[in-house]
Amino acid sequence: MSNSDQAGTFILGDRNVNRLGYGAMQLAGKGVFGPPKDRDAAVAVLREAVEAGVNHIDTSDFYGPHVTNQIIREALHPYPDDLVIVTKIGAMRGADGSWNPAFSAEQLGQAVHDNLRNLDLDTLDVVNLRIMFDVHGPAEGSIEEPLTALAELQRKGLVRHIGLSNVTPAQVAEGKRIAKIVCVQNQYNLAHRQDDAMIDDLARDGIAYVPFFPLGGFSPLQSSTLSEVAQRLDATPMQVALAWLLRRAPNILLIPGTSSVAHLRENLAAAELQLSDAVMTELEGVAGIRSA
Ligand SMILES: NC(=O)c1ccc[n+]([C@@H]2O[C@H](COP(=O)([O-])OP(=O)(O)OC[C@H]3O[C@@H](n4cnc5c(N)ncnc54)[C@H](OP(=O)(O)O)[C@@H]3O)[C@@H](O)[C@H]2O)c1
Repeated sequence: MSNSDQAGTFILGDRNVNRLGYGAMQLAGKGVFGPPKDRDAAVAVLREAVEAGVNHIDTSDFYGPHVTNQIIREALHPYPDDLVIVTKIGAMRGADGSWNPAFSAEQLGQAVHDNLRNLDLDTLDVVNLRIMFDVHGPAEGSIEEPLTALAELQRKGLVRHIGLSNVTPAQVAEGKRIAKIVCVQNQYNLAHRQDDAMIDDLARDGIAYVPFFPLGGFSPLQSSTLSEVAQRLDATPMQVALAWLLRRAPNILLIPGTSSVAHLRENLAAAELQLSDAVMTELEGVAGIRSA
């Protein structure tokens, strides 16, 4: 048993995955655009993750674009039988690196085929329909048209399971009426708690919740409480942030992103960190900075 196995497992779609997975977005170049500075290092991170017991990798063909999926294929193909690769569609990159909506049936079909080609797969395990942000977070509005188009791609056998990303509770409810939803991927971490109620609702339905920016994303979490707790537990603040998520709800699956083998090892070791009830209560204070 590797140390990451201590995170436990959860059924994602129809497969049991280690709750400590890996997010591949950091493997592309700066701004998630173009090739990484060190491609060999990116390949090494992926191989070490899988060797350490990671069997859930989050990606998209719009990372790079294409670059991250091509690195995953180079590092891991032919894929281990238990590996679940989750991708997302609904955006395309401009020549300047901009993120643009791509929700027509034709664009969604193209995105599925781009993922299949670059990952070298016949069927995608899980595809998240990723809704765009506005300045307040996920943008409200019906997701019926694009989700119906994705469900059609599922009926054609190109997609095994469907998830949603950047969605509001109303969109999750609408989505569940249109397709079987196996996961929701939204922004959530110790300091960013707007989905607290949604997580518990999804847990009751056996649907995975996959927080993106589990470490704070482009501005990693910083808090004196987090640092103090980490020091007391002989851990790092990032490990405490991940251990808190693992204890927060059984349906939370982690996909911390890193381009560094050292950070990967540190993050996977968070599975061994047990937080007491008292520490969980103490860490609630970090949520107070969420509107800062
Ligand atoms: N659905 C969506 O719209 C959406 C949006 C964003 C992300 N995602 C997915 O969510 C995954 C996770 O999000 P993320 O990678 O953006 O953010 P994250 O996991 O919260 O944080 C990644 C950042 O933290 C740094 N980091 C990682 N481990 C560290 C450690 N142990 N100590 C110090 N710094 C550390 C990374 O830099 P280093 O490379 O230097 O380690 C990187 O800058 C992504 O990989 C992607 O798959 C989805």
